[in-house]
Amino acid sequence: MCGIVGYTGKDQAAPILLDGLARLEYRGYDSAGLAVRDGDALAEVVKATGKLYHLADKTDQGRSLPGCCGIGHTRWATHGDPSLVNAHPHVSGNCSGSGSGQVESDVVGVHNGIIENFTELKEKLLRHGYAFYSDTDTEVVVKLVDYYYKKYKIGPVDAITRTMVRVRGSYALALMFKDYPGEIFAARKDSPLIIGTAEEASFLASDVPAILKYTRQVYYIDNLQVARVAPGSVKFYDLNGDEVTLPLTEITWDAAAAEKGGYEHFMLKEIHEQPQAVRDTLNSLIHESRIDLTAAGLTDDMLRSLAQIDIVACGSAWHVGMAAQYVIEDLAKLPVRVELASEFRYRNIPMPENTLVIVISQSGETADSLAALRVAKERDAKTLAVVNVVGSTIAREADHVLYTLAGPEIAVATTKAYSAQLVAMDALAVQTAYVRGAVSQEQYGHFIEELSAIPDKIKRVLEDKERLQWFSSKIANAHDIFFIGRGLDYAISLEGSLKMKEISYIHSEAYAAGELKHGTISLIERNTLVIGVLTQSELFEKTISNMVECKSRGAYLMGVTTNGNFIVEDSVNFTVYIPKTDEHFVSSLAVVPLQLLGYYTSVNRGLDVDKPRNLAKSVTVE
Ligand code: G6P
Repeated sequence: MCGIVGYTGKDQAAPILLDGLARLEYRGYDSAGLAVRDGDALAEVVKATGKLYHLADKTDQGRSLPGCCGIGHTRWATHGDPSLVNAHPHVSGNCSGSGSGQVESDVVGVHNGIIENFTELKEKLLRHGYAFYSDTDTEVVVKLVDYYYKKYKIGPVDAITRTMVRVRGSYALALMFKDYPGEIFAARKDSPLIIGTAEEASFLASDVPAILKYTRQVYYIDNLQVARVAPGSVKFYDLNGDEVTLPLTEITWDAAAAEKGGYEHFMLKEIHEQPQAVRDTLNSLIHESRIDLTAAGLTDDMLRSLAQIDIVACGSAWHVGMAAQYVIEDLAKLPVRVELASEFRYRNIPMPENTLVIVISQSGETADSLAALRVAKERDAKTLAVVNVVGSTIAREADHVLYTLAGPEIAVATTKAYSAQLVAMDALAVQTAYVRGAVSQEQYGHFIEELSAIPDKIKRVLEDKERLQWFSSKIANAHDIFFIGRGLDYAISLEGSLKMKEISYIHSEAYAAGELKHGTISLIERNTLVIGVLTQSELFEKTISNMVECKSRGAYLMGVTTNGNFIVEDSVNFTVYIPKTDEHFVSSLAVVPLQLLGYYTSVNRGLDVDKPRNLAKSVTVE
């Protein structure tokens, strides 16, 4: 979703802002803009619709915009169409046109999030003589700040805190005030924002990769705080306007990790990084052949006392929850419920005492997952976040955090973060089962060995990628694809189907194989592709029967199965084998060919693999 950057220092701001925005492209956007100030002069606002290069062209790669202090934005439309007039930055001055150029304004700003009561606030401002040129909630916030700034003749920090008390919703805001050259003011509530400092320069961004090239020293501004950002120095304030101190954090990521490193797309790079992401995550959890979750604050006593686990997440993270449900129930004999965060947050779900609510999230910023976490806390459940981005809101607000170590993930379609989440949940399942006495010491050792072998086995699956590349060229014109499986294979099908549809734009659905007969089979036509996931020994023959039923109605069949199950070839047109593993952990291997299939199909169709249309990496609005 929208990306924010800011810079104030000694260098020309616009090229730095454009570079930062380019590193936030993965978040998804449909227009972009900059506001840069040259000393005391009014901010010059430049906007462009479409891809970032349009904005770069308009400003000669930033060179034609003088000034060392500025803010930038990539917009993912929520209120109002993707258009020049709705693109950020927005200005407080009453102007016509799109708010571009040097508009006489006291405040200019960018925003990520949604202001829920913006209509009511707009009406108030209209009564006070403000006029609006855009349809955005952001223009309303900028003008509301301006209103308080002038009405009470207070400084920027107080004008912003007054605004924060009036608005409902979520925001990360970066604002420049005409009377405060060289400074940027920022505020946040439930939308990501970090502030970096270096010698004689400071930076703002929605995410770390945007500023990693310039500094590793960052502050994570908290909810309902305001920052006053000057070159090389930052001050923070709470809602009362009192100064607060925040710790400075050092980012330890490798900058190269956020670059493509020779791969054609980030997604392909990230698919290949899965052995490492899984190994790093497992290494952080397994010490001397034992699983140790104490870094996440999960003691054996606590795991023993659990009555139920509720897993809450969105998108692929929810698919991880679906897979974990089978594994935890089977190994630990503990009831598990898996809920979509967007549903969970509005349901009145009874939670027995000693329920652990696990929120799984790569970004740690997904709006629905964050809201679900807060609901769980209100109900006094214990909460655990399984999160990839260190210092993210979900990580900070949960009682316990188990970090996945996938590193920065840029492609919108998740791969390595999903795989890291899977093994983190598997390790949690094994440890919970062990401390509750549901598995023996010997089984515990076996599971740990099997988990530790996964990274090398993923590497072996990746070696088979040419066959999938070839097969994807045959299916590139498909209209519908069905992914089916039973048990864990169903959970894997869900992820395979999502990978396919989100980047190839081919309609696909995942079905529990036994459900096909209850409606979906009527959609099977000649050459409809049906992909069966066939790894669970007690179930796969039943799924094959369902596939054969499709074949007799004209379907073309692909199967993903475990090495040795050669019987599958008797019924299926194209078979992919994955290495043998304990069946509880098979998702980590079976998902890889499906990721590759989605990837190559998208490439074959000439699509924007890393930034599929209409999607955002981090969904920070409801
Ligand atoms: C978006 C991404 C998905 C991701 C989902 C949840 O839809 O495109 O890849 O699974 O959000 O995101 P999270 O950051 O909470 O894991």
